[in-house]
Amino acid sequence: MSQRERWATRIGLILAAAGNAVGLGNFLRFPVQAAQNGGGAFMIPYFIAFLLLGIPLMWVEWAIGRYGGKYGHGHLPGMFDVVWRNPIAKYIGVLGLFVSSIIMIYYCYIESWNLGFSLFSLSKTYFGMTDFNSMTGFLKSYQGVEKGFFTSIWTAYFFLIITLLINFYVLLRGVSKGIELLAKIGMPLLILLAIILAIRVITLGTPDPVNFPERNVENGFAFIWNPNFSMLTDAKIWLAAAGQIFFTLSVGMGTLEAYASYLREKDDIALNGLSTASTNEFVEVILGGSIAIPVAFAFFGEVATLEIAKGGAFNLGFVSMPLIFQKLPFGEFFGFIWFFLLFIAGITSSVAMVQPLIAFLEEQFKISHKKATLYVFIGTFISAHLVVFFFQFGVLDEMDYWAGTFLLVLIGFIEVVIFAWIWGMDKGWNEIQKGADIKIPKFFYFVIKYITPLYISVILVYWGFTDAVPTLLMHNIPAEQIPYRWATRLFMLLFFALLCFLVHKAWKLNKPRYE
Ligand code: TRP
Ligand code: TRP
Repeated sequence: MSQRERWATRIGLILAAAGNAVGLGNFLRFPVQAAQNGGGAFMIPYFIAFLLLGIPLMWVEWAIGRYGGKYGHGHLPGMFDVVWRNPIAKYIGVLGLFVSSIIMIYYCYIESWNLGFSLFSLSKTYFGMTDFNSMTGFLKSYQGVEKGFFTSIWTAYFFLIITLLINFYVLLRGVSKGIELLAKIGMPLLILLAIILAIRVITLGTPDPVNFPERNVENGFAFIWNPNFSMLTDAKIWLAAAGQIFFTLSVGMGTLEAYASYLREKDDIALNGLSTASTNEFVEVILGGSIAIPVAFAFFGEVATLEIAKGGAFNLGFVSMPLIFQKLPFGEFFGFIWFFLLFIAGITSSVAMVQPLIAFLEEQFKISHKKATLYVFIGTFISAHLVVFFFQFGVLDEMDYWAGTFLLVLIGFIEVVIFAWIWGMDKGWNEIQKGADIKIPKFFYFVIKYITPLYISVILVYWGFTDAVPTLLMHNIPAEQIPYRWATRLFMLLFFALLCFLVHKAWKLNKPRYE
């Protein structure tokens, strides 16, 4: 077999892995979650989940990934097959290919809105829509949900195509010349842009001291960070915190494993994994927490900010922020910075999402990198039509619920059990320590073996009792969405079946030999 591709530099690897983790979730999903779930008090379950779920899974995934890479596998089916050596393992690994590919289908679309809106900022296209109703109308007409400023979906469609083309151009260039180069340029730029915005927010003061002296940035920070401890007794907050940790660190999807598979056998993973996780937390908590919510508070006050947060991440990013840019001097530039920053955050994540599937086709079916990338591009492009044209019927939300919320946690559970209990914790621990540049405290040995699996089981059992039935039967879904959501589920099932079939075929075609 030909020589496996490798990361060119260590800093490139860390930036790529951090680019994988740092995404729209850091700037949109996190502040909304924090504001909705107790403000500062949310940080307690959040950091506990970071310590007991995020960091351990990070190391587990890097270890599984580097080990799988040694056997030429850049995808979860192959990796589970090497560590477990059970015929069923590769089919369980299909979950990894499935989740990341499904997320790609809708994530790319959200990413493309940012490209569009960054240009709409520079050209002041939405300037003049100065209240929530008209700005919401602008966004909805862009999404093709209502007629308004945009009379058709084609503008959004155009930006989606451009976004997909850029993604697949990067992927076509391969791991070190594509993904790594993108991260080396994109990540420093992203952090710089985020710092500029955070400073702009921190120095904002009180936008309207005469009428609304209490609407200022200090109170905005107090709003997001002051703890409401009474909320800690609500299990939902613990669930939301764990879910955010999974989503933001990109654990439980098979993509960090894919990145780690391009390491050499003795490359460090302990420090690299920790650096990736810490970079993500810095960007999320310090930068992500300092922009959208505090500035919304300073301009709109407490009641409206709570409303905005309730309206979700898109409301915050694409309605509330554009309204604010219209009130700032040089708002068109700050608007451009905000949306372009989100676009970069998105693209360094989205290239990670399809890498496992490309690697799978390439390695298992021995087709060229070019061909594999092209097939995945075509598949993504066709599937994205579902999200674009049936957006208002909840197709995106349905995919996000199963792939972006529920299955990550399930995969995280399966992964840690395979690692600690099937492969064996002693073997696993040695694998994490091999080539390590830091010594990991023994505490984590016990965390990975007992606490992480137990923690996730509690989450899954709680989900089973409270959410499983109403979600499966769509109790709280508007009637007109129900058929479309069932169709989305059917689509996902068929896609899952297709992946299982491909895995079956691949292993028949050439049975991997591991000794
Ligand atoms: N972690 C990314 C964010 O914070 C989102 C994400 C979810 C992701 N799943 C992924 C990134 C899979 C890469 C691969 O927005
Ligand atoms: N569930 C998110 C919300 O609070 C929306 C969402 C779905 C999202 N996928 C995302 C936000 C990716 C940011 C990034 O509305």
